[in-house]
Amino acid sequence: MKGLVLAGGYGTRLRPLTHTGPKQLIPIANKPNIQYCIEDLRDAGITEIGIILGNMMPEKVQEFLGDGEEFGVRFTYITQGEPKGIAHAINCARDFMGDEPFVVYLGDNLLKNGIGAIPELMTKEGADCVISLMPVKDPQSYGIAELSDDGEKVVRTVEKPKVPKSDLAVIGVYAFNRTFFEVYPRLKPSWRNEMEVTDAISLLIDSGFKVVPHRVDGWWKDTGKPEDILEANHLILDGIETLNEGRVEDGASVMGRVRIGKGTVVMAGSVVKGPCVIGEGATIGPGTYIGPYTAIGDRCTVAKAEVDDSIVMDDAVIDVEKKIVRSMVGKGSRILSSAGLVPKGERFVIGENTTIYI
Ligand code: DAU
Repeated sequence: MKGLVLAGGYGTRLRPLTHTGPKQLIPIANKPNIQYCIEDLRDAGITEIGIILGNMMPEKVQEFLGDGEEFGVRFTYITQGEPKGIAHAINCARDFMGDEPFVVYLGDNLLKNGIGAIPELMTKEGADCVISLMPVKDPQSYGIAELSDDGEKVVRTVEKPKVPKSDLAVIGVYAFNRTFFEVYPRLKPSWRNEMEVTDAISLLIDSGFKVVPHRVDGWWKDTGKPEDILEANHLILDGIETLNEGRVEDGASVMGRVRIGKGTVVMAGSVVKGPCVIGEGATIGPGTYIGPYTAIGDRCTVAKAEVDDSIVMDDAVIDVEKKIVRSMVGKGSRILSSAGLVPKGERFVIGENTTIYI
């Protein structure tokens, strides 16, 4: 079985973070979302993986993933360009898939328990397609599956219905075989002018192919919006183990489950309370509090501040006596004190579509 990870799309809901790179590279507990997808595929025994590239700085995806050796897999890059829909992206991989069945993983989806059950079901059930389902509170925001009365069969799948007939979201991991490419030419663009994967699944059902539903256990997250990323960060940090490869000075306190990377120093007088993760080569302190559910990237400096429930990306600097909560600080950004500067007041150089609360 082969794999396909989608790294296209615009990521508009995550601007300004996506002005400088694709959303699939945004770190969650210091690891890009796409890496979790690759590791899940690899752990399910899938090592031949196609990566769909969009036109939002695709070179950054290639630069991060390389040829796959580092992850124990092999990548083939496939350019989609304009995001014309998930089904369109999958169809771009037609030559790469050949006659093999394959698992598609949306690069902004995250699952607690991996994806092993999906390829297994595909083989065991002799299915043409396996979809993964999970109940959600806001079914209007997802692809939704309508099941038969006995709950065994999928009747159809609908993209973001205004009046949902079920609360079962079709989450972003699917298995298909070559029948996907057989039905694709009959697919029509949706109201939002995309080739919808949910329409392709309905077309498979209408054409008599076997579509098997799989109910996912554990949590699942679509990291399309900033609050989803913070929530995903929370969920991943909930499962981390303590590992200190840095240096904690005498007089500093590190409590709970905390991962500290090589070359990082937690200075005397600072407190780090897990679960949290701090990357490599970072400086925490003096007089700093890093609270639960915080991820601090490589080479960051955090001084004087209290940072709680936040994501601070590589090379960022926070040096101010303020409490920062539920925030995302982009790579290389700096939050400094304006004390002593004239004229007095807050000072910003912020990118497009940024939101700040002061
Ligand atoms: O997260 C699950 C949901 O994902 C499903 O319930 C929906 O049925 C499915 O359509 C999708 O909905 P989204 O609105 O969240 O899709 P989004 O546009 O965010 O794209 C999902 C991923 O696929 C994202 O990593 C970008 C990538 N993508 C998307 C499109 C439309 C591509 O690579 N190419 C594309 O053309």
